[in-house]
Amino acid sequence: ASAQLAGGALPQQAAVSAAPSATLTILYGSQTGNARHVAEQLAAQAKAKQWAVNLLDMADYKANQLKTERFLTIVTSTYGEGEPPENAEAFYKFLFSKKAPQLPQLKYAVLGLGDTSYEFFCKTAQDFDQRLAELGASPLQNRQDLDVDYESAASSWNQALIDVLEPEFKASTAPASGAQVIAWPGQTAAAASSYSKQQPFAAELYTNQKITGRDSSKDVRHIEISLANSDLSYQPGDALGVYFHNDPALVREVLFSAAIASSTPVRLGEQRLTVAEALTEQLELTQSYPAFVEKYAAAIGSEALQSLAADKTALRDYLADRQIIDIVRDHPGSLSAQQLVDALRKQQPRLYSIASSQAEVEDEVHLTVGVVRYDAFGSTHLGGASGFLAERLAEGGKVRVFVEKNDNFRLPVNDDTPIIMVGPGTGIAPFRAFLQEREQRGASGDNWLFFGNPHFTQDFLYQVELQRYLKQGLLSRLDVAFSRDQAEKIYVQHKLQKQGAEVFAWLERGAHLYICGDGNRMAKDVHQALLAIIQQHGGKSPEQAEQYLDELKQAKRYQKDVY
Ligand code: 2AM
Repeated sequence: ASAQLAGGALPQQAAVSAAPSATLTILYGSQTGNARHVAEQLAAQAKAKQWAVNLLDMADYKANQLKTERFLTIVTSTYGEGEPPENAEAFYKFLFSKKAPQLPQLKYAVLGLGDTSYEFFCKTAQDFDQRLAELGASPLQNRQDLDVDYESAASSWNQALIDVLEPEFKASTAPASGAQVIAWPGQTAAAASSYSKQQPFAAELYTNQKITGRDSSKDVRHIEISLANSDLSYQPGDALGVYFHNDPALVREVLFSAAIASSTPVRLGEQRLTVAEALTEQLELTQSYPAFVEKYAAAIGSEALQSLAADKTALRDYLADRQIIDIVRDHPGSLSAQQLVDALRKQQPRLYSIASSQAEVEDEVHLTVGVVRYDAFGSTHLGGASGFLAERLAEGGKVRVFVEKNDNFRLPVNDDTPIIMVGPGTGIAPFRAFLQEREQRGASGDNWLFFGNPHFTQDFLYQVELQRYLKQGLLSRLDVAFSRDQAEKIYVQHKLQKQGAEVFAWLERGAHLYICGDGNRMAKDVHQALLAIIQQHGGKSPEQAEQYLDELKQAKRYQKDVY
């Protein structure tokens, strides 16, 4: 037992000090499920060796347990401008607070997942790593910061960690009775399905309906997909992962600009296929990323592009609105089909918050898809998945999908609990699922929805359904913010603030609070509005208001699904 625990009188400490065996605690900070998958893989490897493993969503970790840990692994993504993912926030805050204990007994390892397109690439992982070292913990192996194509590097990192831990775990005796903690996240039906990110289900598109008006600045589609003959199931709050084919016309353009024949054979991992097939079905064309610029610049031998690639800030600006086609057009050069394929990264599925409840739609799944479409550099640019669903996939056609569960965005267990939902734009999606679910369950809890979009006549998504819910009383309240229907902007947070007294009263009687939609500005502004409401109507200081929201979050009564 460590010195800290000597003579520990508290029963909790006594139990831990009686445990000579080693436990590997694995925490994941995950917004899209990637870090969770990597953590689960590590846990499975450790379990296969009969080690005691404690695998946890970071949101479910009791931070005061930290000083008793001996082996800790953190797998985390980073979000927005270098912020921890939603489920990592509380633990991150704790670790950087004065409450964080010294950790001389702890050996740790951190793995970062990120996207090199972002300025603060893997910042959260770096922060955890640095902070644990500062607190006196010692690293088991070096941190790695992995890009979007993380799978094989993550497997190697996991394997290397298992190898490092082997002697430590061999040395420790069999687990002492009662002292061993093994937490295994409950498997949902979705996780138990035979279909997954690695093995998606080819589902039929039933419906593709534009639900914004003809004069709207936005093109939003209501999409219905059939999960019939799959064993896929989902819960409100989950997301659907969607793979897609790139536009064949775009593929032809890229190949034409690079002077490569469509039928040229290439290798992609173990596969042999034509370059057109590789670009259409498997590679990322509608996003651009630093690794492509570096590899492409080297392949065509462009000094101009190579020096641009070396200047991270300039490169980010350059890439902002550009897709692969724009880079190839800007910097034409000669390269082989294989070089082009090697410069492109593998397509990542897009995640959409599910907009339906199976209690209502059974083996269907509905999505609310904002189509990414903009004119730039002399052509119309379309988003990969949204363009595929909205424009290229005929009704009756097949789309490859899987369910990504999200246990951090769930209806209250108790049907009587009131909920407040803030979901402007396509952020409405999971709340349509919540409302369907609550209607089917006959849940008696009050439901309050805040929705916003530019114009009432053009952009009131699901207007008929929502007004029916309001009339029936399923929606107790519906507050809408049509931002451009008057001279001054009105946003959901303004509507919240206007109803501040009522909002605070709902929170005081146990309401759960949900935000879905834009995470860069909207969710932050709504958070600020909530702080102001709690101060004003709860008579609290700024610090107390902050603490009020922290506690809600801890109790899983304040949940966000933002992008
Ligand atoms: P705007 O485009 O008129 O500025 C969904 O996109 C809705 O969210 C739109 O009405 C949009 O308004 C609004 N919106 C934009 N920025 C926002 C912010 N920071 N907070 C809340 N809503 C915002």
